[in-house]
Amino acid sequence: MNPFEVTPRSVDSAFKNWSRIYSKPYNKHEVSPYTKTRVILMNGTEFESVWFGHQTQRNCPNNDIRRDLALIRRVEQQQQKVIASLKPMDETILEHTISYEQLAVDLTAELAKREPDKNVKAALDFALLEDFDHLYRYSDLLEAMVGVKSEELVGHYAEIMPGRPTISEHRYPFDNVRFFINCKSAAPITKLNVAIITAAEQQTMNYYMNVAALFENDLGRQLYQEIGLIEEQHVTQYGSLLDTKTTFLEHLLMHEYTECYLYYSCYEDETDLYIKGIWEEHFHQEVAHLHMAADMLKKYEKKDWQEVIPNGNFPQLLTLHENKAYVRDILANTVQITSKKEEYVDVASLSNDDDFFKFQNAVNQPVEEVPTHIVIQSYIDSKGEDYRYQDSDHPVPALRDRVKDNVSVGREANANG
Ligand SMILES: [Fe+2]
Ligand SMILES: [Fe+2]
Ligand SMILES: [Fe+2]
Ligand SMILES: [Fe+2]
Repeated sequence: MNPFEVTPRSVDSAFKNWSRIYSKPYNKHEVSPYTKTRVILMNGTEFESVWFGHQTQRNCPNNDIRRDLALIRRVEQQQQKVIASLKPMDETILEHTISYEQLAVDLTAELAKREPDKNVKAALDFALLEDFDHLYRYSDLLEAMVGVKSEELVGHYAEIMPGRPTISEHRYPFDNVRFFINCKSAAPITKLNVAIITAAEQQTMNYYMNVAALFENDLGRQLYQEIGLIEEQHVTQYGSLLDTKTTFLEHLLMHEYTECYLYYSCYEDETDLYIKGIWEEHFHQEVAHLHMAADMLKKYEKKDWQEVIPNGNFPQLLTLHENKAYVRDILANTVQITSKKEEYVDVASLSNDDDFFKFQNAVNQPVEEVPTHIVIQSYIDSKGEDYRYQDSDHPVPALRDRVKDNVSVGREANANG
């Protein structure tokens, strides 16, 4: 599929009345967990498009371009409304959060498996273990509060057990910035992977920024605060991978191409017929945006779209599915890794006066007050052991203990046992 070869509809033909903008929500008990994660992924993709359009307007003196951006942005906003209303009213903030972290795990793993650039793959594998741990912490809160088992919500496609413990994920901010890719030499799939994961993690960060204060108890509000600050680190990491040497209109073209690619992938992957129809309709709306962005690039920068996207054919499409073996392998081999500026290093290699330990001491003292630790320890205190869903023994021996929450792995030398 090459969206540059698809005949575009007019951009204006996308406008809908109020009944068509308000979708029929899915049934949370019947729909595939991956339909829920696709809804979150595309909601985040649209959010990124909308905010990219606003930022571009604020940096652009030409009102003809600003009007074109306003037109595209109005449609992106409408798409976001259509997608966001798919979430049913009876799906709680915390249940929805489980799908956010399931998406983070399975999307990150899938992108890492297909990523040819070593640095980008390392970034994905690194954050994978952190979101995997978030899934476990939120799952224990959910089980403790209302008795809902996350293994049902994730359809048994993901294991629920500790990852790199969240307490160890807090790094000095300098250590979250990576080298950016070069769009001229990067593989097409690398450019897509970086754009997709940045928008998805940003969506998670924004969601936690908004829902923390809406949550119904102190522990939950604190949990969203703490994990929200890790999502800030993830968005810093992934956003730093984006090529900084592209113009706004080149970026616009790449945004529209990424949207075409994702809607087409979702369309091919989708099992819910009603939602499949939405992905198809949005794909055609994005084709219209893509052609408009190519025209703008030609008109204002005298560049052909092939200078940004040399081959318009989609690389392999994105599919969402279970990645249990992959996650176990990364856990077994890299749970003790932290990051030092652009590198990933074993925590044992850091000197005692490293920024990592200073920052850990500033935010995690006393350890008994760290929310992601409290949520597990209080569960253990009331029920005897934590809530988990595992297919077999945890791949990290130190994380097998179910009656004591481990606060050493990832933050002390050789703590993986
Ligand atoms: Fe869009
Ligand atoms: Fe996360
Ligand atoms: Fe994340
Ligand atoms: Fe678009």
